[in-house]
Amino acid sequence: MPTTPPHWISSENPPAAAIDLSMVRRQLEAGFLSGKYGYHFPAGAAQSCRPDILDYDTSEAAAIRALIARRCSYSGVVELGPGDGRRAARLIATARRWLPSSYLGLDCSATLLDDARRRLEDIGVSARTGLWDFEQRPTALIRDTRQRDRIVCLFLGNTLGNVESTSDVLSNIRSSLDPGDHLVISVARWKPEMPAEQHVDCYLVDGFRTAALAPLLAIGLVAEMDLSMSVEGRIIIGHATIVSIDHVPPSLADVLVPGRRLRCFISRRFDVTALDSALKEAGFDVDSTFAASESISAIATVR
Ligand SMILES: C[S@@+](CC[C@H](N)C(=O)[O-])C[C@H]1O[C@@H](n2cnc3c(N)ncnc32)[C@H](O)[C@@H]1O
Repeated sequence: MPTTPPHWISSENPPAAAIDLSMVRRQLEAGFLSGKYGYHFPAGAAQSCRPDILDYDTSEAAAIRALIARRCSYSGVVELGPGDGRRAARLIATARRWLPSSYLGLDCSATLLDDARRRLEDIGVSARTGLWDFEQRPTALIRDTRQRDRIVCLFLGNTLGNVESTSDVLSNIRSSLDPGDHLVISVARWKPEMPAEQHVDCYLVDGFRTAALAPLLAIGLVAEMDLSMSVEGRIIIGHATIVSIDHVPPSLADVLVPGRRLRCFISRRFDVTALDSALKEAGFDVDSTFAASESISAIATVR
């Protein structure tokens, strides 16, 4: 019998099966590959460049502390997509008065969950983790581990901006929580005054190329690729064009060929109205929203 490390509450998809190759194939045939695959391997590649690109930590943390401070007490913190746990550790360390020290992190990357757990344990938080792909379906892991009182669910760092369908993800989250629970979400703010080229410019930094191509690297493609960035509406998009191939997984050799152009990165921007209506449509009551220079944060209650 395989054994489960004690901090894992359960895993709805065992780590070894985390990359579903039939889904990968369907996406590649349709001309894209979801950003979520980039977090599997190389571990944290997509993570490492973020502070250079969207440095909204300071305004976001202040906004979130203010949102949480106005609320009642919670029996637990659940975080969706904690990455390496840096943001949550900073937030919890400075908001201990309002947040309990019981933490459950849910992510599709086992490697990042392990990093997050260690970071939180370093600041004295009792952390458990579980695998969940929130783009696929709701999870029972939150209900299975919750105590009686309401929980606060953190969904930070514009993770909503990187998914394929914001409505599917918010609806999966809504179905996994109970009425009265709170969702604290932060997304990147759309700046209408900024010319389109400048939205792209902030991605032209060292390290971003590997992060944007990470989904293709994660599925085992070793190739020379060109990366081009563009803005469509309020979405910054990265396309990879395969120039030449050194190695391709045999089962994907017919869809990954030189000349193929694939979308491998998206980052949406939001304004207050767009975030508000997305939350309401998914079944949340929006209690309060806060727009800072780079981010928009909101606290919402599950109806
Ligand atoms: C942009 S990072 C944000 C990390 C962290 N919240 C922060 O603010 O620094 C996105 C995180 O969400 C996770 N993630 C992305 N897509 C996911 C999915 N479909 N299901 C579960 N986790 C996902 C990634 O593995 C990563 O940990």
